[in-house]
Amino acid sequence: MESKLFLLLVTVGFTVIAGEYVRPQPRKDLQVPWDAKPSSQSQQVHISLAGDKHMRVTWVTGDRSAPSIVEYGTSSGKYSSVAQGESTSYSYMIYKSGLIHHTVIGPLEHDTVYFYKCGGQGPEFQLKTPAAQFPITFSVAGDLGQTGWTKSTLEHIERCKYDVHLLPGDLSYADYLQPRWDTFGELVQPLASARPWMVTQGNHEKESIPFLKDGFESYNSRWKMPYKESGSSSNLYYSFEVAGAHIIMLGSYTDYDEHSDQYKWLKADLSKVDRQKTPWLLVVFHVPWYNSNKAHQGEGDSMMAAMEPLLYAASVDIVFAGHVHAYERSNRVNSGKSNTCGAVHITIGDGGNREGLAQRYEHPSPEWSVFREASFGHGELEIVNSTHAFWTWHRNDDDEPVRSDQVWMTSLVSSGCVAEKTHELRKILMSP
Ligand SMILES: [Fe+2]
Repeated sequence: MESKLFLLLVTVGFTVIAGEYVRPQPRKDLQVPWDAKPSSQSQQVHISLAGDKHMRVTWVTGDRSAPSIVEYGTSSGKYSSVAQGESTSYSYMIYKSGLIHHTVIGPLEHDTVYFYKCGGQGPEFQLKTPAAQFPITFSVAGDLGQTGWTKSTLEHIERCKYDVHLLPGDLSYADYLQPRWDTFGELVQPLASARPWMVTQGNHEKESIPFLKDGFESYNSRWKMPYKESGSSSNLYYSFEVAGAHIIMLGSYTDYDEHSDQYKWLKADLSKVDRQKTPWLLVVFHVPWYNSNKAHQGEGDSMMAAMEPLLYAASVDIVFAGHVHAYERSNRVNSGKSNTCGAVHITIGDGGNREGLAQRYEHPSPEWSVFREASFGHGELEIVNSTHAFWTWHRNDDDEPVRSDQVWMTSLVSSGCVAEKTHELRKILMSP
């Protein structure tokens, strides 16, 4: 008995000394309390960038005659400007959404705090606009859902003093239960009403029902992104510019072959990118192309075959994807192999949803894979200047964000790849 106890103590001691990481257990869905506000009061407030110096404010009211106005200004309680927007609503089987308001405010000063009120009443919110120049910090996490781990991830993102959040798909995990979109909107409001949240769609946004419902109705109604502002005809793909970065949000669940509208729009958008003005080029979509986890293996292959040559010619610096509930970072890579002029691919579908982690990996690890780990967490990308950016990934370890992966990246502008491929890119963009 004594010898067994001794063995146990030695084993425990060794584990502690070795600092072995013990992955925490999955957490249940949160019961987000539904706060019955007056029906004309704003709920689920979130903001998104909407073209140069403009921000879209989105909120929901139960009252279907509530006005879509936003009063705003740089002093609390004193609103020097007012903007009128539009509203929409949708029905989904027996569910009827509240009135969803979208109001664009601006022109706004860069790097400035604004106070605002939605619909002429209710609480005051405040937001900060991004700076016009570097440095700029993006927080990144996809596949959020609304569990205890989501809450933990959101707390860590809030602490990191980011300027813009990038969400590579799978937001609410409502999965047809529409009130879950409302609780998700309430859960993220403290963050998403204060900094722009730029999202793209995942499979959990689709919610289509054969012969009854087209896909993405709830998502498109509630999370309107600046697609018109970026010349796109669909909310499922768009682009925006902030500080010195051009960011392209693509759709993994809409057509992407070279005859598709998305591909044509992508070519048109890339032809407008000026790397003098926006030296960093980022792309965000849901299904990863470089993934050595056993989960969702190969699902991104056809989109990759269609679009990687174009993105490679365009010298994309970083690609963010979600879908796989884990974290993985690649070398600069193209066509399945490390390549100094390719993009760094980062899978970051680790926001904390109820489906849990994807813990099984392929062995051996591919040569392009630098770091992979099945934990919940979030990433932070600080673009310091036109040549350097610092990327960190923070694992949710016992509710504390622990920096587990970090790397300095140099831009493809500074390494000469952009100049080297100008001719090749022009040829592709000019082809019919
Ligand atoms: Fe997904």
